[in-house]
Amino acid sequence: MARDGAVYACQSCGAVQTKWAGQCPACGAWNSLVEESQARPPGAMTPSKASRARGLTFEGLQDETPAPSRISTGVDEFDRVCGGGVVPGSAILLGGDPGVGKSTLLMQVAAEAARRGARCAYISGEEAVEQVRSRAQRMGLADAPVKLAAETSLRAICDGLKRDQFDLVVIDSIQTLWSDAHEAGPGSVTQVRAAAGELVRLAKSRGVAIVLVGHVTKEGTIAGPRVIEHMVDAVLSFEGERGYPFRILRGAKNRFGATDEIGVFEMGDAGLTEVKNPSALFLDTSGERAAGAAVFAGIEGSRPVLVEFQALVAPSAYGTPRRAVVGWDSGRLAMVLAVLEARCGLSLGDRDVYLNVAGGLRITEPAADLAAAAALASSAHNQALPQDCVVFGEISLSGEVRSVSRMDSRLKEAAKLGFHRALGPAGMDGGGIQTIGESRLSDAVRRIEEARWD
Ligand code: TYD
Ligand code: MG
Repeated sequence: MARDGAVYACQSCGAVQTKWAGQCPACGAWNSLVEESQARPPGAMTPSKASRARGLTFEGLQDETPAPSRISTGVDEFDRVCGGGVVPGSAILLGGDPGVGKSTLLMQVAAEAARRGARCAYISGEEAVEQVRSRAQRMGLADAPVKLAAETSLRAICDGLKRDQFDLVVIDSIQTLWSDAHEAGPGSVTQVRAAAGELVRLAKSRGVAIVLVGHVTKEGTIAGPRVIEHMVDAVLSFEGERGYPFRILRGAKNRFGATDEIGVFEMGDAGLTEVKNPSALFLDTSGERAAGAAVFAGIEGSRPVLVEFQALVAPSAYGTPRRAVVGWDSGRLAMVLAVLEARCGLSLGDRDVYLNVAGGLRITEPAADLAAAAALASSAHNQALPQDCVVFGEISLSGEVRSVSRMDSRLKEAAKLGFHRALGPAGMDGGGIQTIGESRLSDAVRRIEEARWD
């Protein structure tokens, strides 16, 4: 039975129930409901005296608002994902798997910003000051005037931030903080919500940009995320595939900029290095391209990125053929396979199909359809695509190859990296390279089968 006033919050999705249950009715997670004291959600503000006295005042859309000034941290890839620098007084949530490099990235950001004159603090709730310092020294950042502290008490942190004025403060991580105003343990939804609410308000009132680190749970959500994502101004995620050195910073929400930007970094012995030209990183331009490989000319955020799709179509040893995909959507693969089968006469039903996006990048653009199809057809017919050819185009269920956005940027990037041909939708043009337009996928597949490229 629920006690009076007691509520149960799911530690996985943040849904609040009035009764305890073994399984969360909202997200289906088991054993995730924990009793928490009912507190006013920090997002719900009480009107200040001033606003009560003033009443509600309206303004017009055409009234002037100065563009927010921004702190340029000096880590350009980070700044770009933030929308061109960090806005003072804003709160940013940086999510990612444990070990992906969140602490490393933010130490670099704080250090570079401090070197440029910003007053920066790095507060760690996970590591001791000595650990943070020795890592910074290893990364060659020892000379940067960043103030370090190891603290998990929300009250101590807030007092400290009210005492000293900072421009940028990193809190690593939100899950380690605890507030003595709540009984629940650190990392619980109540605590995470309370800490985030308090810090966001502090950020606004003191004009300091606060970056909160949030660990992601197995399910891919930042623990207690739904409860704090709406409080912060920007949600960034830091991603990387195990075994690959590069890391991608993505914006999931940004009140001060676009969300489709990515920042690319490479993890090395001395921390993260910015990758200014991602295509060169994801693409192996040396050596012959084998059958089953197709270079996709993609767009990530505002930048073109070339990346190799690799497919293997092999006779299946089992009754049910295997379909495995890394770096692309499996539903999308199923669709492309169905179109190849139904519209191009390529029989794949009894064969295993593997598709991999080289380098560990995750591609979400529909423009990659044709590259995937070309890689599959190339493997199925054992005919390599020309070494100097890029591919892009969206495929419809009827087997048409559709135009995609920003074709000229794709072609230009391909030309810049030494490609001379592009296979894509009919009607594309420019970039100084030979364009091979096909309006039907079946024609493109036949071209690959017959190796007609002149
Ligand atoms: P870290 O920033 O501690 O990850 P997070 O804060 O997201 O949990 O990074 C941990 C990983 O990064 C660890 O596996 C070691 C690696 N690393 C390097 O390879 N080079 C470096 O210079 C640093 C600092 C870390
Ligand atoms: Mg860390």
